[in-house]
Amino acid sequence: MPLETRLTCLIVLFFNTFPVQGKSSQPHILFVLADDFGYNDIGYHGSEIKTPNLDKLAGDGIRLENYYVQPICTPTRSQLLSGRYQIHTGLQHGIIWPSQPNGLPLDSPILPQKLKEVGYSTHAVGKWHVGFYKKEYLPTSRGFDSYFGYLTGSEDYYTHHRCYGKMCGMDLRENAVPANYSGIYSTYLFAQKAADIVQKHDSDQPLFLYLPFQSVHSPLQVPEKYIQPYLHIKDEKRRKYAGMVAAMDEAIGNLTEVFKQKGIWNNTLMVFSTDNGGQILEGGNNYPLRGWKASLWEGGMHGVGFVHGQMLKRKGIVSKALMHVTDWFPTLVSLAGGNLNGTKPLDGVDQWKTISEGSAVNQRSSILHNIDPLFQPVGHRLPKSPFDNRIRAAVRFGDWKLITGSPGNGSWVPPPHMKLLHQMEDNSEPPEKNIWLFNITADPYEHKDVAHINPKVVMQMLDLLAQYNQTAVPCRYPKMDEKANPKYLGGYWGPWL
Ligand SMILES: *[C@@H]1O[C@H](CO)[C@@H](O)[C@H](O)[C@H]1NC(C)=O
Ligand SMILES: *[C@@H]1O[C@H](CO)[C@@H](O)[C@H](O)[C@H]1NC(C)=O
Ligand SMILES: *[C@@H]1O[C@H](CO)[C@@H](O)[C@H](O)[C@H]1NC(C)=O
Ligand SMILES: *[C@@H]1O[C@H](CO)[C@@H](O)[C@H](O)[C@H]1NC(C)=O
Ligand SMILES: *[C@@H]1O[C@H](CO)[C@@H](O)[C@H](O)[C@H]1NC(C)=O
Ligand SMILES: *[C@@H]1O[C@H](CO)[C@@H](O)[C@H](O)[C@H]1NC(C)=O
Ligand SMILES: *[C@@H]1O[C@H](CO)[C@@H](O)[C@H](O)[C@H]1NC(C)=O
Repeated sequence: MPLETRLTCLIVLFFNTFPVQGKSSQPHILFVLADDFGYNDIGYHGSEIKTPNLDKLAGDGIRLENYYVQPICTPTRSQLLSGRYQIHTGLQHGIIWPSQPNGLPLDSPILPQKLKEVGYSTHAVGKWHVGFYKKEYLPTSRGFDSYFGYLTGSEDYYTHHRCYGKMCGMDLRENAVPANYSGIYSTYLFAQKAADIVQKHDSDQPLFLYLPFQSVHSPLQVPEKYIQPYLHIKDEKRRKYAGMVAAMDEAIGNLTEVFKQKGIWNNTLMVFSTDNGGQILEGGNNYPLRGWKASLWEGGMHGVGFVHGQMLKRKGIVSKALMHVTDWFPTLVSLAGGNLNGTKPLDGVDQWKTISEGSAVNQRSSILHNIDPLFQPVGHRLPKSPFDNRIRAAVRFGDWKLITGSPGNGSWVPPPHMKLLHQMEDNSEPPEKNIWLFNITADPYEHKDVAHINPKVVMQMLDLLAQYNQTAVPCRYPKMDEKANPKYLGGYWGPWL
């Protein structure tokens, strides 16, 4: 064999044995986001709903038990994708309604864009909900190589049809193009589309698969067979909801099998997260946490989350490190070997070492839960307060959590089958009350407001809110636009400007 050929062989051998730094060290990333999945709706929190696949994945991975999301949909998704608080994107108030010309600003790259820069193949399947009024805001314009899913929220699981007031239309697309899979339950549909992506994927390239399921948001719809094991649950909503959770759990189990068959599961980091607390009016539950979806109580935003993957240095443990949904952006970008060039200042912190190794370096100590200038103010302003405490806001600093303004219904609502044992406790507090302080470490269920005995801490926390407020951009919450009506757009919700 001529020397040259032998050398080439050696080099090839060398590179096959010791793959170049970069490519093979980049894990595949599967990010599963559940919708309205409550704290008391996962098996490992003691729920009456069984989630064997999620329990197993979390049990072999790391459960995040001091993990926070936002109280509602668009805010969590916008922060996950951008790594930035709502006060820095203008999305402080509410969700993006279907006919609102609004979106997560285009001025800072989002997660798939940063992963694509370092060679990832990027795909999203499921709910978008961070804006679509112009083509530039669609997933395929924002770093996803492919997209299959819906742009608004709350549509029918089978017809994929959504009405908003008098405006009605289909909401499903394949990349940027309207799609029609009428009759197929979305959990099956999204699981199948996700499986197709994995099966067709070139294993040498790192994969980012973002899978924001429709499950388990209302409307309460699920194939009958998933309800069968729950016929003992008397409350109809809870019963159907339990079935929906079961379907999602099965879909996730199925998808992990597809990764295994493809031979890439051992190099895949899976993240599972809810987008916000469970909606108790639609079968969800967060007991023993206080309050629920859309509130600033823990039930609204103390989220279910875990990670799983061979690359974790610790496994089978519970992490109590404070973590926030904005942290995924820098954490995943750095794990992928990417950089944060071109991003506007981030509010998220790279938590990889915290999660994987339990390192205290880079550990987060505070979270701005939100400041919402458009929410109805409540009560009176405290004399000398640096922050207008009539305004809805919440902040966490170490053990402390301060809430101002109107936090939302603060009842502790047990799941229906426990109602005889645990009475629902209503919060009968004066309607003008607008400040609460809790030591969340000592009192995770927010039973004991200690504001009155810690006036100095209250002032310090108000000061912290005032400092955050100084960095806020104006809130953008445009008027509904009649031109968004699907009747002008071929019967589908989609870009209209
Ligand atoms: C979607 O397909 C169903 C069933 O084939 C059909 O009845 C319906 O009209 C289609 N909808 C649209 C908007 O094309
Ligand atoms: C999971 O896979 C099984 C076997 O292929 C299939 O029957 C079932 O419908 C799948 N479940 C979901 C939720 O996709
Ligand atoms: C993952 O499994 C595949 C197939 O069994 C194997 O070739 C590869 O070396 C494994 N990778 C890691 C990171 O363990
Ligand atoms: C990121 O920006 C830094 C500083 O400008 C530069 O040195 C580096 O090359 C950039 N990295 C990439 C991958 O663009
Ligand atoms: C936040 O800052 C703005 C601008 O200075 C001010 O108008 C507003 O009252 C502040 N909000 C609160 C809740 O203090
Ligand atoms: C809070 O929610 C509970 C449960 O739905 C309800 O019974 C109660 O009336 C609500 N309280 C207030 C003050 O709205
Ligand atoms: C909060 O409560 C925990 C547990 O009782 C205690 O260790 C901690 O010192 C308290 N934090 C503050 C800031 O008082």
